[in-house]
Amino acid sequence: MKYPKEYLDEIKNRLKVSTVVSKVVSLKKRGKEYVGLSPFKNEKTPSFTVNDEKEFYHCFATSEHGNIFDFVMRTQNLRFGEAVKLLANLAGMQPYIFSKQDEEREKKWKIYSSIFNIYVDFYHNELIKNEKYFFVRDYLKDRSLDKDLVKKFKIGYIEKNPNFFEKLKKDFKIEDLLETGLFYLDEKKKIYVERFKGRLIFPINNISGQPIALGGRIIEKSDFLAKYINSPETLFFKKGSNLYNLDSARKLSNKLDDVFLVEGYMDVIGLNKNKIENAVANLGTSLTDKQIFSLNQFYNNIVICFDGDESGYKAALRAAENSLKDLKPEKQILFLFLPDKEDPDSFVNKNGKDYFIDFSNKNKISIHKFIFNHYNKEAENNPSSMAIFEKKLRSLANSIKDSYIKKYVLEYFLEKISELTPHTNHNKKNYYYKNTKSLETTKKHFNESKFLSGVELKEFSLIYLILNNLDLIKENIHLIENIKLFTEVNKQIFEKIILNLKTSEKLSIKNLDIDDQLIDKIIKFAPIKHILKNKSNSDYQILELLDDVRRDLNNYDLELRIQELESRFSKDLSETTFNELKELKKKQNIN
Ligand code: CTP
Ligand code: MN
Repeated sequence: MKYPKEYLDEIKNRLKVSTVVSKVVSLKKRGKEYVGLSPFKNEKTPSFTVNDEKEFYHCFATSEHGNIFDFVMRTQNLRFGEAVKLLANLAGMQPYIFSKQDEEREKKWKIYSSIFNIYVDFYHNELIKNEKYFFVRDYLKDRSLDKDLVKKFKIGYIEKNPNFFEKLKKDFKIEDLLETGLFYLDEKKKIYVERFKGRLIFPINNISGQPIALGGRIIEKSDFLAKYINSPETLFFKKGSNLYNLDSARKLSNKLDDVFLVEGYMDVIGLNKNKIENAVANLGTSLTDKQIFSLNQFYNNIVICFDGDESGYKAALRAAENSLKDLKPEKQILFLFLPDKEDPDSFVNKNGKDYFIDFSNKNKISIHKFIFNHYNKEAENNPSSMAIFEKKLRSLANSIKDSYIKKYVLEYFLEKISELTPHTNHNKKNYYYKNTKSLETTKKHFNESKFLSGVELKEFSLIYLILNNLDLIKENIHLIENIKLFTEVNKQIFEKIILNLKTSEKLSIKNLDIDDQLIDKIIKFAPIKHILKNKSNSDYQILELLDDVRRDLNNYDLELRIQELESRFSKDLSETTFNELKELKKKQNIN
């Protein structure tokens, strides 16, 4: 749904940027602008400016820039639609109603939301205040969840035979009550039942912090009751779209890079207890693209940290295989594996925040590495198994939508596979730079030749060397015959020279018939002359220099071909291209 421009403009017209900003930053007037301390950075001298006329803010410390909507989105971690709602309200305007359907939905949402709020508040207060529930509080104490934490997560307890439904019936239609999924009709007994009766309840909020669903845990061991149950899907709760605690975790994304994605309510709460608040849970379902997407709206790095058991590992693998395809250059998905039998809750409680963070920093691995390691462990060292292994990795890499990421992941996979095969050449030592140093130093002398490209200068050096050593080169013509030049004019001269060297008896620059001006230019700019200057060079030295230049030009050629192949590879991902690419890179290293 897109807001009409007039509506957005009206909000902008009613609200000055300085009005919106000054709710967060204290501003001082300076000329036409306002200045203040940047809300995006800790600073002592103000580098944040606001210009009401131009309707923008600009932060010189972080180069952030935008209008009132950007500002609210950035400082309060809101999405655009929410920022619009908030600012419309601040501007004293009605929320925008999109259509008849939206209007209906908006009405339903108001009812749904108020039932949920009443319900969650009621049972939360019961848990905190009602003397009857001491045994639940004991359970929480046993798990060392204190009152602050219970309040922060608005945990509640519903008795085994509740009658809150009867009370709610007075204010709401039965139909609306059923719509929330908090109640259902027992067909046999013809009574309405509270789905979460006898359970500790964990409210699941939408992104704006409004409760839309519940998770419920039994507090005594039971063979016939599930340990946890969750709300069914409703008009406002879709399982694959929501994440537990995202409404609160997102607020830290200004300060932190990583968000921890864990399996359960208690993992999130346990981490919070240990002051790790950037954690969300996907609640026992398999991770969906939507969930990754909504996490990525706030955080660039997602650290998936499931339970350290077989089912946690399997869930992690499923999540990896499923989310690989959506990898983006600026986003990362990492995996953190805990020791056997630990879940994030138990692990952080045992070891504390610092250890957990340190453990995470040291042990989290990128999604593609995890995938490689997993299949590598499974593969046996025989052709058929290796073929299946390679095929699987290729098809996973191929599923990646972003072409750059696809290229690098595939390269990583194929490189790692080639390392597994024993005949791979590992001794690519770089004697490549051995003789090129002198040429590098001469570069300094050529400020005046700045407008000539590096490769042009190399070509000048080549021609200069030849022109000054015609007889020597003629004897060693095989050394230069296959050198490739890139600049059209130089190429022509070079070909002419070679032809002449091969055919004419008497050699001199004159009878080469080259444009004088060009010769002058070459003599003036050829970097190599500074090496030759004032030295009587032996033939051997000349040939060595010639070889240096040849090597440089050859590498330039390789570099161009590598670039071309890389771009082809990112499109076709073919084995042939990859192998060619590898060959070229190898050549480049030993050249
Ligand atoms: N879950 C579920 N249904 C179950 C078991 C688990 O929906 N029968 C979901 C719940 O969202 C739960 C998550 O999977 O939070 C993780 O389950 P589990 O690891 O068994 O629970 P813990 O988080 O370890 O919770 P606790 O410490 O209370 O046992
Ligand atoms: Mn667990």
